[in-house]
Amino acid sequence: MTEDAHRGDRNCADNCCTISREIDSIWCSRKCARFAKEMGFCENDIWELCIATSELVTNVLKYAGTGKLSFSATDSQVPELEIVVEDDGPGISDIPQAVTDGISEGIDVSERPDPRTRRGLGAGLGAVHRLMDSVDIQNRHPRGTKVVVIKRCDHAPSGENG
Ligand SMILES: Nc1ncnc2c1ncn2[C@@H]1O[C@H](COP(=O)(O)OP(=O)(O)O)[C@@H](O)[C@H]1O
Ligand SMILES: [Mg+2]
Repeated sequence: MTEDAHRGDRNCADNCCTISREIDSIWCSRKCARFAKEMGFCENDIWELCIATSELVTNVLKYAGTGKLSFSATDSQVPELEIVVEDDGPGISDIPQAVTDGISEGIDVSERPDPRTRRGLGAGLGAVHRLMDSVDIQNRHPRGTKVVVIKRCDHAPSGENG
């Protein structure tokens, strides 16, 4: 499906995208990447943004089913890209534990070595923390999760190889 077809097919406005299918992790990453490129982010940072976006969108699909992503440039002095991923799912009962590497759905993955008995490796939110400059995870009321991440564009915009 082309991006235009996707846009017509779905509620996918310029800086916002609904999340309901696996392919949405790609569409969301592509949209954020395009925006980041226009802002002057280097290639390496754009890859990192794509990985973080994909992790957050995948979590929405796995744990909430559906949600939405939006992004914008903040009005700080150093250019920054802010991405907001929200859903109406069950929320996260223990946020510090969820961010800890190796714990998926509250269980240490080493206790479940067989991947068929778990949905993840428990390293997604940890990776998002490592890749972004700021991460804020909140439970929404009455239900759901809201994750706000910010990446600063503090590299030279061109002539880099990442
Ligand atoms: N949007 C969400 N809604 C509900 N729970 C979530 C959401 N995102 C993450 N979680 C919880 O946080 C845990 C850690 O997430 P993550 O680090 O991405 O690891 P993984 O997805 O591999 O388990 C998940 O196992 C899940 O319990
Ligand atoms: Mg995950």
